[in-house]
Amino acid sequence: MAKKSKKPAKARKPAKAGGKSRAKPAAKKPATKRSSAKVVKLPARKAAKKTATNGKAAKSALPAPSKKPFGQAGKALDGVRILDFTHVQSGPTCTQLLAWFGADVIKVERPGVGDITRGQLVDVKGADSLYFTMLNHNKRSITIDSKHPQGKRVLNELIKKCDVLVENFAPGALDRMGLTWEHIHKLNPRMIVASVKGFGPGPYEDCKVYENVAQCTGGAASTTGFRDGVPLVTGAQIGDSGTGLHLALGIVTALYQRTQTGRGQKVLAAMQDAVLNLCRVKLRDQQRLERGPLKEYPQYPNGAFGDTVPRAGNASGGGQPGWILKCKGWETDPNAYIYFITQAPVWAKICDVIGKPEWITDPDYATPAARLPRLKDIFATVEEWTMTKTKFEVMEILNKYDIPCGPILSMKELAEDQSLRETGTIVEVDHPTRGKYLTVGNPIKLSDSPTEVTRSPLLGEHTDEILREVLGFDERRISEVRDSGALGLVVPRMAAE
Ligand code: COA
Repeated sequence: MAKKSKKPAKARKPAKAGGKSRAKPAAKKPATKRSSAKVVKLPARKAAKKTATNGKAAKSALPAPSKKPFGQAGKALDGVRILDFTHVQSGPTCTQLLAWFGADVIKVERPGVGDITRGQLVDVKGADSLYFTMLNHNKRSITIDSKHPQGKRVLNELIKKCDVLVENFAPGALDRMGLTWEHIHKLNPRMIVASVKGFGPGPYEDCKVYENVAQCTGGAASTTGFRDGVPLVTGAQIGDSGTGLHLALGIVTALYQRTQTGRGQKVLAAMQDAVLNLCRVKLRDQQRLERGPLKEYPQYPNGAFGDTVPRAGNASGGGQPGWILKCKGWETDPNAYIYFITQAPVWAKICDVIGKPEWITDPDYATPAARLPRLKDIFATVEEWTMTKTKFEVMEILNKYDIPCGPILSMKELAEDQSLRETGTIVEVDHPTRGKYLTVGNPIKLSDSPTEVTRSPLLGEHTDEILREVLGFDERRISEVRDSGALGLVVPRMAAE
């Protein structure tokens, strides 16, 4: 059974609200200083517009506050329709977020193949991979050969009906399909065209890029790892999902600006730029390094600093020194550790908890500056205490005193965490070919636009539905397009949940 069809979103008109309701800046007072210069007579100020009925200043063009209970007044992006040309991870994470906020996301896939991730890292034979299903919830799928003449015609029609086109093809691929900015803008001047690319304009702009390439070129790898070790990439997908987040913000911002200008624009999030943005504190340290050693880094005071920010191991990136310490069971459990922060305002409490009350007044330990050259020894002493308890016991004790800390939680522990399930951050989803699986739900919670996670679409599952509902094609026209080969082979319908 096909997924329950969504109501076709109405074509958006530029909102009358927004820009026009903005208050004009207050007129400057005429200068009081007398001079011999000619006095320019200012035109009399127009009286503020009054409403016909009550004589008060014009009201904001926003609608009256909804009287519906929160969460029942529709979704934040209701009415926004997205033509989703994304694949792999970076682009799909962006459009998945927009879908969770209520946008109608139409994923355009290559007939017979689809998003390459459908068949990557397969764990259940014959079913879409978790790689795909966990990045493409709440979307609809249409298969169109974008290089087929009939396929191009269908895409042109879809461009006229959508608000945003999102893509993360290799540089030049969209143009090669004939979908240049000029072409799109001419068909639909309101269309926002959003792209993820590996690099922004410059020497590397034509390069293909994957997650770890971005981590390396955006500054993350050179600053991650231990000082004597090789550069390290992190498990957090800051290059792909991090860039997808940046792009989503760019899209909603462009949608907002469109309410004032009535036109679309290009939005670009380069993966190198997004990673560098997330490594902002390391560029801060690069400049601090020019003025002396980075005293919170483990290289201080004995190790040598070069001319670039070194890898800082597990040192905290902020002004509060921290380190990862062993807890009870570390010998066998690779995650029996806790991140411990020696936050200055709670130093006295730390000393009491770990049984070192004399450090509170000892001039070698009493101030943050005095502690910096002794951090290694301090953390070794704290670790003697943490090793006597499990990471959860340590957390419980420290939290009583407002001492910041973080147990190292494994994926298994997170998957089983009841509180994350209750908030919808971890969700169980049912899928017709793979059965039940866990996914990460929407991490951004809106009180008036709650997220309901629905399964990812099967390849081409909504092809007919979209042609019928969005483009208004009748059965004869659908058959014509199908017979032309522009939609690929007929995909047998799978039973829905
Ligand atoms: N119909 C017909 N052809 C289609 C199609 C469709 N519906 N959808 C895609 N294609 C074609 C494209 O036109 C392109 O063909 P062309 O190069 O002959 O013009 C090809 O499929 C796909 O292109 P490409 O993006 O180069 O795929 P790739 O697998 O070689 O490269 C990436 C993958 C991710 C490296 C590359 O897309 C990229 O660098 N993207 C930008 C950065 C990015 O997002 N990286 C992170 C990915 S998680």
